[in-house]
Amino acid sequence: MEIVVRRLQDQDIEALAEIEAAAFSMPWSEKDFRNLLEHSYCHYLTALAEGEVAGCCGYTESCGEATIDNVVVSERFRNQGIGQRMLQELILRGEAAGIEAFTLEVRVSNAAAIRVYEKSGFVSEGIRPGFYEKPREDAMIMWRRRKGAAGI
Ligand SMILES: CC(C)(COP(=O)(O)OP(=O)(O)OC[C@H]1O[C@@H](n2cnc3c(N)ncnc32)[C@H](O)[C@@H]1OP(=O)(O)O)[C@@H](O)C(=O)NCCC(=O)NCCS
Repeated sequence: MEIVVRRLQDQDIEALAEIEAAAFSMPWSEKDFRNLLEHSYCHYLTALAEGEVAGCCGYTESCGEATIDNVVVSERFRNQGIGQRMLQELILRGEAAGIEAFTLEVRVSNAAAIRVYEKSGFVSEGIRPGFYEKPREDAMIMWRRRKGAAGI
């Protein structure tokens, strides 16, 4: 299967909003995705599988640190390495742009996502109790710091 990962474009948004709606209880809307394109501190990538929009991921940048606030792959394309491929590309591009550390939150029960993050070098640095709604659940806070970068 041919996978291409490139910057998120306006033409991807309708399909991405559908993928979101199927994946999350509080999904991003088309409007939420459009907002990303208007802010230079938002860096988002789309994965295409055989030319079809298969998922996206991205981060919001602040003071040299990146918060990854969305990672999603369409259910029919999961477990084929797309999630990891997108994250690798996001980290490469972020580090090239000077990002020293990436962070994210993930539901503690989301074993597939945690697996992908750990394979991409993220480690758990704590739990935020009751962080998520619909359903209420704890969040695991994960970080990936560039080797040699100062810790907090
Ligand atoms: C998390 C997500 C983006 C991963 O995308 P993906 O393309 O399926 O990821 P990959 O194929 O690269 O890797 C999936 C890994 O999880 C593993 N996995 C899948 N289901 C699993 C489970 N129930 N328990 C443990 N590991 C699991 C796979 O075996 C694979 O690991 P491996 O490569 O070592 O075999 C996708 O599952 C998704 O969109 N989920 C819904 C949205 C979501 O939860 N996003 C994250 C929010 S923080």
